[in-house]
Amino acid sequence: MRSPRFLAAASLAAGAALLLSACASSSDEAEPAASDNAAAGEVALITPGTLTVCSNPPYEPFEFEDETGEIVGLDIDIMQEVADDLGVELLVKVTAFETIQSGVDLDTGSCDVVASGITITDERKAKFDFSDPYFDADQGLLVPSGSDLSDVDSLAGKKVGVQQATTGETFADENGLQTVQFEDLGLQIQALKTGQVDAVINDIAVLGPFVEEGFEVATTFPTGEQYGFGVKKGSTALLDAINGTLERITTDGTYDAIYTERIGTAPIGK
Ligand code: ARG
Repeated sequence: MRSPRFLAAASLAAGAALLLSACASSSDEAEPAASDNAAAGEVALITPGTLTVCSNPPYEPFEFEDETGEIVGLDIDIMQEVADDLGVELLVKVTAFETIQSGVDLDTGSCDVVASGITITDERKAKFDFSDPYFDADQGLLVPSGSDLSDVDSLAGKKVGVQQATTGETFADENGLQTVQFEDLGLQIQALKTGQVDAVINDIAVLGPFVEEGFEVATTFPTGEQYGFGVKKGSTALLDAINGTLERITTDGTYDAIYTERIGTAPIGK
């Protein structure tokens, strides 16, 4: 049996906790940008009331301009869910993939989160913190329709366009390919169109849209990559919020709906 004295102490503690939470919520309300969601109060953002996200389009279906010039895509949809859970606005900033993946955008306070189809690698993990993985990726080879380039061996002596500072570039380098660097996927494709390069390597999931433009996806290089969202080292509250949203959208079906809309098929195994 618990002594009445213990019970009294316990209810006093409960009362104190209630009081504390009442204080916390009333101070939340005093902040104009904060929502009724307690998480927003704990997460420090570079612009209060706004989740600022750095991304490198064109990278359809993850980040690309729609007809109205707005940046949309799977990464942006998920970031919108995070912003909604935090009760803040979402702002997408376009930056170079190099400064995204090196941690520079985060370190210089350009953005709170980098969301750009970023493969989780040990090298990058040393520079910033990653969320839980949210997408599986491999590399792919895009060639002009009818080309006989189909594997690493056939690329000997050929010029391969890669996106600067990406895992596709690393893959090409590791396989001894002769590469030409481009700052983004758009420039890579442009160079393939003009014949400046013979083939292009980038993540397989972004090559599909170019099949309609006279190209074919010649092969997949199964690199077994996973995408994660990045935050500045030590931004634990924000990281927890992102992982919390990832967990929520995985459980409530939102992730599958986003995936199906943006990728065109349901996630494997569903
Ligand atoms: N997944 C690859 C990497 O992390 C390429 C990502 C490029 N992303 C982009 N939005 N351009 O290196």
